[in-house]
Amino acid sequence: MVFQLTEEQLAVKEAAREFAQNELKTGVIDRDRHMTYPTEQVRMMGELGFMGMMVSPEYGGSGMDTLSYVLAMEEISKVDSSCSVIMSVNNSLVCWGIETFGTEEQKEKYLPRLATGEWIGAFCLSEPEAGSDATSQRTTAVEMDDHYLLNGTKNWITNGGTSRLHLVIAQTHPEKGHRGINAFIVETDSPGVTVGAKEDKLGIRASDTHTIMYNDVKVPKENRIGDDGFGFKFAMKTLSGGRIGIASQALGIAGGAYELAVAYSKEREAFGKPISQHQAIAFKLASMATEIEAARLMVYRSAWLKDRGMDYNSASAMAKLFASEVAMRQTVEAVQIHGGYGFVKEYHVERLMRDAKITQIYEGTSEIQRIVISRNILEGQLYLPIYGDFAVEQA
Ligand code: CAA
Repeated sequence: MVFQLTEEQLAVKEAAREFAQNELKTGVIDRDRHMTYPTEQVRMMGELGFMGMMVSPEYGGSGMDTLSYVLAMEEISKVDSSCSVIMSVNNSLVCWGIETFGTEEQKEKYLPRLATGEWIGAFCLSEPEAGSDATSQRTTAVEMDDHYLLNGTKNWITNGGTSRLHLVIAQTHPEKGHRGINAFIVETDSPGVTVGAKEDKLGIRASDTHTIMYNDVKVPKENRIGDDGFGFKFAMKTLSGGRIGIASQALGIAGGAYELAVAYSKEREAFGKPISQHQAIAFKLASMATEIEAARLMVYRSAWLKDRGMDYNSASAMAKLFASEVAMRQTVEAVQIHGGYGFVKEYHVERLMRDAKITQIYEGTSEIQRIVISRNILEGQLYLPIYGDFAVEQA
């Protein structure tokens, strides 16, 4: 077992850290307060290769592994989770979904634009009555001569107002249940696509979350992804990897709050010494560091499994479940360490605490992750961490 990043992975981590600290930190509080979409910052992320990190160079991407992507997500999320969710949806849901399951024509047509950030993508699964219960899709895609006719409403769509491409999940054969669902690539300038108002959110306030309406939108047949009826499996398989992205976002939020708490506790004095010298605070820092390290191992491992073509469905659900709960707990601790200063906007930690909450909700709530994990234990293969023959023998 080698707990060591390669030189290339370390360079990616360093580049992302520099970008986040130098380019994202300035203005992040204002963008949060005014819900200002980070247009310039997203443009820079495209230029630096962060928008298509795992897309192969053949299609204009950076051709990196999942672990490199996780490292970049972690560093960017320490500072600005609005930027990292834009990046995460584009990379691990939209680009990965198209590259893994799309036709050669779809990849050639769309990936170069998405991977460079020229186009931003959105993943349109959730509906007013189909959130956690994702099989209950009401959006319909009726098959016509040379196209599908798309009708319905999607909500909570990240990148909803800024995307040029939607991956839309819709029901084609209601009598077949989830086996009648399809996934489509929809260009957002198609007649009949309407973007609703931007949501006013608790956290990740600068990211762009909207309701989207499709009214008799004609989607060319060649824009369907996979065989007829593959749409639900497409969504599940794509989300399984997407959860690694959100887990790394949660890890970054926790890490960002921890770094701020350590620095503050060394500067702030009470009772004649820095508060870090009081055991009450020193023990908090020790617990924070321990939990964050445990989350980091789970997140990196799920990326490692994915990079080796091994089963990562349980691992990504566990990583997201644990990392998001660590993010919530540790951001609350960071606010506590900051005392009154933690309660005001200037010190960043209250924003990190608000941003942490969504990681327990999107791409599958914590409750959904527990469903995925428990079903893998009880109905599927008994979950075993893959540490070689020893683990197999233990079974
Ligand atoms: N890979 C492949 N197939 C899978 C799968 C996976 N990971 N998970 C499920 N499936 C298949 C099952 O095998 C089954 O197929 P068959 O019937 O052909 O055998 C089919 O999918 C249905 O599965 P279930 O019977 O398990 O379905 P269910 O209704 O009980 O629910 C669920 C499954 C896991 C709860 C699912 O509905 C789910 O993941 N819900 C959460 C949805 C979610 O994560 N939404 C996030 C929105 S996207 C977002 O947030 C992006 C953003 O903007 C940040």
